[in-house]
This record gives sequence, structure tokens and C-alpha cells, in this order.
Amino acid sequence: MKGVILAGGMGTRLLPLTKITNKHLLPVYDRPMVYYPIERLVQAGIRDIMIVTGGNSAGDFLRLLGNGKEFGLKRIHYTYQEGSGGIAAALALAEDFVEDDLLTAILGDNMFEEDLGKYIHRFEDQGKGARILLKEVEHPERFGVATVRDGRVGEIAEKPKEPASQLAVTGCYMYDAEVFDIVRTLKPSGRGELEITDVNNAYIRQGKMQHDVLSGWWQDAGSSFEAYARAQRLARELKLQSQG
Ligand code: G1P
Repeated sequence: MKGVILAGGMGTRLLPLTKITNKHLLPVYDRPMVYYPIERLVQAGIRDIMIVTGGNSAGDFLRLLGNGKEFGLKRIHYTYQEGSGGIAAALALAEDFVEDDLLTAILGDNMFEEDLGKYIHRFEDQGKGARILLKEVEHPERFGVATVRDGRVGEIAEKPKEPASQLAVTGCYMYDAEVFDIVRTLKPSGRGELEITDVNNAYIRQGKMQHDVLSGWWQDAGSSFEAYARAQRLARELKLQSQG
């Protein structure tokens, strides 16, 4: 299993905080934002990790993370995304790194309360196709929204005005290497990006998508100032809990 952290983009929703730095380097309580998804991959036993970065301060990731010693890693792989081509375009840059392996990708601003190991191990047992993690949220219209019927995920709507459920698609995605062929078939969306939701819908149409619904909280820290503020509070609680 390979791990990919998607930490590119211009972070426009957090301007001016992101004017001179990358969103994923901003502090969330006692650590930079990108630490949280890296820790979840490492906790799940993933040792081969690539960071896809870009935009402002891309070089600072190397200065911050180095070879990943702080996380118990021997090395971290890096690649660079030019411009803001979208999450799916960022993921495509990891193709040579992933080769024929399975991968777990986490968005660099996503925080999860729980250990993701059990979900990732379920995907390893699944062995092929894709797996996503869903979470019931108050404002699903801010995310990709899934419906589940008879245990199966129906087509996902990206930020729908009238969500068909409360189930948001979180930023942890598990794929087989076919994902790279799927990305090659995508066309840019209305916001000019290759959408990860289109990747997921391709797997859903092929009947190859499985899912889990998270029991712990989930927070995307970088989608608004409100989300960023909430992330600080949750990170603090998480830290205090871990200290007992
Ligand atoms: C992206 C995805 C969306 C997903 C969200 C999770 O949104 O497009 O489907 O629910 O991440 O954080 P973005 O933050 O790029 O608008």
C-alpha cells in the first residue's frame, strides 16, 4: 500500500493567510496542518508516502518534513503540481510512485479523529477497485455528497445545492492503480479542475466502489475560516485526550 498526501492548490478560500504560504503548512493548534493526514497514514502502517505539493512555498515542505524522521519514516517522496489542476490531476502525478500497488490518498487539510487503519485494511482485503469514507455532516452542500442504498453508494454529487443526504465524501480515498487510467479520461469541471468526484463516479458506475461510514469526527481544516477555526479546537481536544 502506498500513501499519497495531496497538498497542492492555491488555498484561495483562506486568503490572505495563504498569500505567502501554502495552506497545508498553516498551524492547526500545535502542528502544521499537513501533519494530521501524514500521521494517519503512518499509524495505518503505511511507510511509502508521497507528498504532492505546489503553489506557494512548495520548497518549505522539504524543510519542514525532510525525510520524515519525525514520523518514523526513512524517506518521503515529493512531487510538484503546477497550477491548480484539481485533486485528480494532483493524484495523477503519483502514478510512477504507485506503480501497480494499491494507494490511500488523503487531502492535506483533512483531519480524522480515529485511526484509519481498519478501513485501509478492509481495502487491502478488497484488493481492487476503490473505497471511500463517508461522514454525516450538518452542511453536506459544502462537499461531495453520497447516497447509500442497499449498502451501495449511488452517484456522488459535488457540492449540490440540494443534497440528497447528509453523507459527505471525506478526503480519504483508496484506489487500485486503474485510477490513473480513469484520470486520463476526465474532462475539467465547471471550476476548471479534474474532480476526484468524477473519479469516484467512474468506479461507482463500474460497480467497484465500497465504502465505510466513519464513527469519529472528520474535519476539513482548509475550506473556510469557520472550518479552520473548528479544526484548531478539535486538534486541541485530540491532543488533550491523547495525553489522558
Ligand atoms: C474536495 C472534494 C469534495 C470532498 C472534499 C473533502 O472538495 O471535491 O468532494 O467532499 O474535498 O474535503 P474541495 O475542498 O476541493 O472543494
